[in-house]
Amino acid sequence: MKKILKYFLLALLVILVLFQLFPKPAKNNSTPFSSLDISRKYPLPTDVARILKSSCYDCHSNNTVYPWYSNVQPVAMWLGNHIEDGKREINFSEFLAAPVARQYKKMADLKEQVEENEMPLWSYSLIHTYAKLSAVQKEVLINWSAQVRDSIKANYPPDSLVMPKRRP
Ligand code: HEC
Repeated sequence: MKKILKYFLLALLVILVLFQLFPKPAKNNSTPFSSLDISRKYPLPTDVARILKSSCYDCHSNNTVYPWYSNVQPVAMWLGNHIEDGKREINFSEFLAAPVARQYKKMADLKEQVEENEMPLWSYSLIHTYAKLSAVQKEVLINWSAQVRDSIKANYPPDSLVMPKRRP
């Protein structure tokens, strides 16, 4: 029995070592302040900015703050995927690059995600405990997303806010 355990641990070690050979994704760190940053058009109140930065920007901006273990595989690939998927959904650093209809929709999605405790990802909050949103923080984000939606609605014709139907 002891022997099996020894082989098992050894195999695990070999796998971990081999994993280190996988190339790591490029770091998500670019020009700090893009002209397409959400705050260029929709000013971020201090509390909103603080919440987004501490709970969302690691996966939804162009600048991730990497923990040391992000250099260890397979964690590096795993985090890389989260960042890639997160940015594809909503990237606050380039929010203004999206068509208005998408911006409008994403702010509704944000409200939904926050209300349903879907964001930040639970696996992330497990380690980044400070990122978990309090009831007050959730309310701040939800109210802010409504304000952004109002502001978009006030400035663009209604038909520009409708997401184009996906082609069959
Ligand atoms: C650890 C990475 C991570 C963090 C931190 C994170 N997200 Fe996400 N987010 C993702 C990923 C991955 C997706 C896409 C897959 C999914 O929906 O689960 C996503 C999707 C989204 C979407 C789109 C969902 C949809 O249905 O269209 C919104 C909006 C969103 N996140 C908002 C936030 C907000 C707001 C925060 C901070 C409170 C946040 N996220 C924190 C990784 C993250």
